[in-house]
Amino acid sequence: MSAQNHVKRQSVSRMTAPGITARKGGEPIVCLTAYDAPTAAIVDEHCDLILVGDSVGMVVHGLNSTVGVTLEMMILHGQAVMRGSKKALVVVDLPFGSYEDSVQSAFKSASRVMMETGCQAVKIESGSYAAATISYLTQRGIPVMSHVGLRPQSVNVLGGYRARGRDQKVANEILANAKAAAQAGSFAIVVEGVNTKLADEVTKAVNVPTIGIGASKNCDGQILVTPDMLGLFTHTPKFVKKYADIKSVVETAIKTYAQEVKSRKFPSKEFTYKFK
Ligand code: KIV
Repeated sequence: MSAQNHVKRQSVSRMTAPGITARKGGEPIVCLTAYDAPTAAIVDEHCDLILVGDSVGMVVHGLNSTVGVTLEMMILHGQAVMRGSKKALVVVDLPFGSYEDSVQSAFKSASRVMMETGCQAVKIESGSYAAATISYLTQRGIPVMSHVGLRPQSVNVLGGYRARGRDQKVANEILANAKAAAQAGSFAIVVEGVNTKLADEVTKAVNVPTIGIGASKNCDGQILVTPDMLGLFTHTPKFVKKYADIKSVVETAIKTYAQEVKSRKFPSKEFTYKFK
């Protein structure tokens, strides 16, 4: 089967990148991540934007950072999320190593993601090097969401996942990165792991929406990694509010199933075929 056969084409009624940009300073933009079709279908009902984040490497594939995530992984999960959703704008992360070295390699990766998934935009982690890439992609028909502040793909340079911008030099760099990303044509900017003051400064300095994760309520929208906010993991970052405790629900269900299989309680007659 060709790659094209996997693609679910976007419907006209989906939220668009310009539609997200137009929400600057208005009603807060609701965003979550998704990596599979059933979760995307639930998230789609309530969110303006679904991010197929490279966090998939950690929360689904068990990697200890996002550095090992490949373009093929992002495409596979992007296809699933497109099949599961119909209203939200779907943005797929470009993974580490697929866009940083030249604008041409960024276009090759981004266009492949767009063509093979049917998603409407990509996200890149945006250091000072990124403005040229954002403008190159945008001019060639690929909406770009940028990501400043704590940039998880740089974990090996940063030495961990601590909030960023404690010293003024780094705070200034983050502000400059956000301004450059907006000027280069990003339709929105994810701001991760900064304090309220810096989130506020960034939000006021750019003319596109800021989407905060661990970046206070002063951003134009919010995003969380869905498995984190559902309580699927024991360890969650400080900024994550657990809206459910799915881990204990799953644990109880699986423990009960195991007990019922061992005691032959399951499958009872109710769950057994009976031919006439
Ligand atoms: O990969 C991801 O899920 C992200 C969010 C943390 C914004 O980039």
